[in-house]
Amino acid sequence: MKLNIAVLPGDGIGPEVTKQAIKVLKAIALEFDHQFIFKNADVGAIAIDKTNNPLPDKTLDLCKNTDAILFGAIGDPKYDNNPSAKVRPEQGLLKLRKELGLFANIRPVKAYDTLLDKSPLKRKIIQGTDISIYRELTGGIYFGEKHISDDGNTASDLCEYSKTEIERIAHLAFKAAQARKNKVTLVDKANVLESSRLWRKVVKEVAENYKDVALDFLFVDNAAMQIILNPKQFDVILTENMFGDIISDEASVIGGSIGLLASASVGEKYAMFEPIHGSYPQAKGKGIANPIASILSAAMLLDHFELHKEAQMVRDAVDKSLKLKITTPDLNPDIANITTTKVGDFIEDYINNPDDTNLNFTNIHLGQSTII
Ligand code: IPM
Ligand code: MN
Repeated sequence: MKLNIAVLPGDGIGPEVTKQAIKVLKAIALEFDHQFIFKNADVGAIAIDKTNNPLPDKTLDLCKNTDAILFGAIGDPKYDNNPSAKVRPEQGLLKLRKELGLFANIRPVKAYDTLLDKSPLKRKIIQGTDISIYRELTGGIYFGEKHISDDGNTASDLCEYSKTEIERIAHLAFKAAQARKNKVTLVDKANVLESSRLWRKVVKEVAENYKDVALDFLFVDNAAMQIILNPKQFDVILTENMFGDIISDEASVIGGSIGLLASASVGEKYAMFEPIHGSYPQAKGKGIANPIASILSAAMLLDHFELHKEAQMVRDAVDKSLKLKITTPDLNPDIANITTTKVGDFIEDYINNPDDTNLNFTNIHLGQSTII
C-alpha cells in the first residue's frame, strides 16, 4: 500500500516521540512491502515562532492533501503562563480538528498485565480493563461562542450541540461496541445541562439501530468516580468534547502512564493520529519521553487503513518492550539508561527480527547490546 503521511511533530517532546513512530512505520513498510511517504510541517508554538500563526496555510494544505496525519504535541509554557496571549499554540490543533472535520476522537485505555503495579490503583481493580473512549471533538464548549465583557470582569463559553453532531459519533461508538463487548455508556450531565439532555435523546434514538448493544447512562461526576472504582464495567464510553478530554486523562492512570495512551481522530474524509500526553516541556530534549503513545498512535493509523496484521505487529513489539522493561523512566524509574530513542530502536528491531532469540536482555539493560 502507498500512503502519504503528513507529520506534524509540534512542540515539546512532540518531535522526539514522533521520530520513533516514524521509525516504526518505516520498519513496517520494509517488512510488509508498503510505501509510506512522510512530509513534515509546523504546528503550534514552533509555527507561531516562525510565522505568527499556529496553523500556517502550508500546513493545512499539506494535511488536506494527504492520506493521514501523524501529530506530535503542542503547547509551550510561555503561553500557559500568559492568559492574555491572543495567539496560542492550542488554536492550531483546534483549527486543524475543525477544518478537517475530525469529529470523533477515539482513545483506547487498557491495563497491560505487565504494568499492573505501575498504576497507583489496585491491581485487582484494574486488571482486565479495556475501554474505548469516543470523545466528540469538533463541537461543544470548545467551539461555542466565546465572550468577555468590555470591563473584562465577565466571561462565557457556549456549549452547543446539534442532533447531527451527536448522531454521527454515536453511530461510530455503537459500531465499535459491536466489534467489542456490545456496551455503550453515554457520559453526560443530563440532570443539569440542556445539551446533555439532547445527547440522551439522540443517542437513545440511534441505539434503536443497534439492538445487540446495551446502552446505559452515567452522569459525568459519577463516571469520574466509577472509572477508578470499577473500570472493568466499561466497554465503549461515548461523550461530548470536554467531558471526554477530562475523563480520558483520568483513565490514563489505569495504564500506569499517560505516556502509553494513543488516539485517533477521524471524520468523513481525514484521519489524524496523536498521543494524548501533550507537549511535556519539562522533558523536552532529555531523552526521557515515552514514545509508546506515539508508536501506538501509528498502530491505530495502520488499523485505519485495514493493515491489521501490521498494527498487531507494532502492538506485539510494544508488549515485548514492556515485558522486558525496555521502557522510559516514567514506567521504570530505577532503569535510567533507556532513552526515548532506545525504546524506538528496540521496537523497530523487533519488527524487523521478531524471531530473534539471541537478544541478550541483560545487556540491553546495561545499554551494551548491539541492537540498541
Ligand atoms: C487533548 C488536549 C487538547 C484538548 C488541548 C491541547 C487543546 O488536551 O487533545 O486532549 O483539550 O483537546
Ligand atoms: Mn486533553
